[in-house]
Amino acid sequence: MWHPIPVSEEKETDPYLTKQLIAYIGNKRSLLGFLGTVFSSLENKGDRTVFSDPFAGSGAVARLARKMGYSVLANDWEPYSKIVNSCYIGINKSDLKNLFGEYGGVEKVFREINHLDGEPSDPYISRHYAPENTEEADYHTERLFYTTENALFIDRARTWIEERYSGWDLDEKQLKEKYILLASLLYEVSTHANTSGVFKACHKGFGGHGKDALTRILAPMEMEIPHLVDSSEKMIIENLDAADFVSQNSSHMTYLDPPYNSHQYGSNYFMLNTVALWDKPPVSGDRKDDGRFVEKAGIRKDWIQTRSPFCYRKDAPGAFSGLLDSIDSRYIMLSYNTEGIIPFGELYDIMENQGRTELYCRDYILYRGGKQSLSRQNYNMELLLVLDRKEKPGKSDRKKVERFLLERKLITLLRRPFHPEKMKTNFPCRNQSVDLSPSQDGSFLLGTREYYVFRDMPSTETLEVLSDRQLETLFSLLEDSLCGDNQEEARVLINLMRQSREEKMRNRYGRRLLQVVRKFAFKKYRELFEETARELERLIADENKVFGSLSEGLASIKSIAAMRFRG
Ligand SMILES: C[S@@+](CC[C@H](N)C(=O)[O-])C[C@H]1O[C@@H](n2cnc3c(N)ncnc32)[C@H](O)[C@@H]1O
Repeated sequence: MWHPIPVSEEKETDPYLTKQLIAYIGNKRSLLGFLGTVFSSLENKGDRTVFSDPFAGSGAVARLARKMGYSVLANDWEPYSKIVNSCYIGINKSDLKNLFGEYGGVEKVFREINHLDGEPSDPYISRHYAPENTEEADYHTERLFYTTENALFIDRARTWIEERYSGWDLDEKQLKEKYILLASLLYEVSTHANTSGVFKACHKGFGGHGKDALTRILAPMEMEIPHLVDSSEKMIIENLDAADFVSQNSSHMTYLDPPYNSHQYGSNYFMLNTVALWDKPPVSGDRKDDGRFVEKAGIRKDWIQTRSPFCYRKDAPGAFSGLLDSIDSRYIMLSYNTEGIIPFGELYDIMENQGRTELYCRDYILYRGGKQSLSRQNYNMELLLVLDRKEKPGKSDRKKVERFLLERKLITLLRRPFHPEKMKTNFPCRNQSVDLSPSQDGSFLLGTREYYVFRDMPSTETLEVLSDRQLETLFSLLEDSLCGDNQEEARVLINLMRQSREEKMRNRYGRRLLQVVRKFAFKKYRELFEETARELERLIADENKVFGSLSEGLASIKSIAAMRFRG
């Protein structure tokens, strides 16, 4: 069975849940409202709820569980995660007034660190990961993960912390103080990085060629006192392999959020571990003949110690079922993605083997319909599977869930850009509407914009009438009607601009065209980009009334492309 969960339109504003979260792939910050609704429907009514989060990452979900009053068991095998969770999950707000007495209190200690000055005694981040001088940074010969000033800030702050709180063999109060300072520094380290999110590479030049996020990257670092909340419940924070962690800790509900693609967190976030551990591993300075680094990002070598089995197709199902066997909880929830490494059917079977498994999903695609953006092309769906070990599996549950997913996949497909000619070949089309009904009786008519994007979305009732076979046929016909690639979409948009009588629509297609062309503005598509840009310039000159609005945008994309081609 599946359950759509209404998503509140109200924005979460509590800083404990929304602020000071490290930038983290796969973090569930935007799903907190949805997850909170599911958690409260499963909690141990009238008794304490012990909530386990073995893949806690940034700690977004563990924070929610703490705020909901649960006893939280948070674990992740990356050291930086243990530190941020030890701070935000392990420390009470009311503790703050009793800490940092020898420095005159928490405010004073933060002020002191934020005002540190001078050369750090043994610079490390500024030596290996930042340029000599921000203004004269040279991405050919220097690593540009931080501005010179911010790299020095990290060196000074981290050295200050380690000089006062050396190692991890500290008493409880000192540990709390160290976690607070490090969690705050790690947030700065993750926020002001000159990367597009992960540390496997930095931008060539500050802000990258698009100069996006430049303000964030250049802004001087300043550590903030963490936003904490009080709780009288017991918290456990660990740094173990998830399977070991769950076999040592029982809970009422366990929330599993393992990686679902091949990207390893240890290498993607190596910089956070470097600052967390402050063990200063050697960084290769070897250079090629042209002066560039052989190891461009200087990733620490020991990241392979946390190479996750969940990132490999051949290992993930075994790791997942082994993990389930080790968990002692009535409820086990799994966040996963329809495009994840373990196919949905396999996941469902593994979970259903242990009891009734239901699918919860955010109720936002199926019933909202209406407006859609020209640029939405997302095929993925976030799933939450909930296993109740006390209930027996229902007979047709898997079939119902698969059917539901197929309907969702169809809705997602309907949001993509189509090729009008292909659409007209595959379906009866009239008056801007497409007839998607199998018997072509007009019972399933959807309005479009020039047969390029759908304006309407089908109602649940319309879809329910279709058999599984019919739904699958419809899906494959629609897939066959999509724009095959960006180049084809660009061609469709040029035609639509020509055909549009309304300036508003022409501009809309023009903006989309520029977005599409921007996608080719990379070295590997150089020929295609240059050919498309030449064609657009010809059109701007020959049919200026139609295409003139493209000229400014095209010039800016061309200058970004030129920089990329040179780099
Ligand atoms: C999708 S992220 C979790 C995101 C988290 N729920 C959040 O909101 O930030 C997956 C996490 O699993 C951790 N991880 C992967 N394999 C692990 C393992 N075998 N044991 C413990 N942690 C693991 C990674 O370090 C990463 O932080």
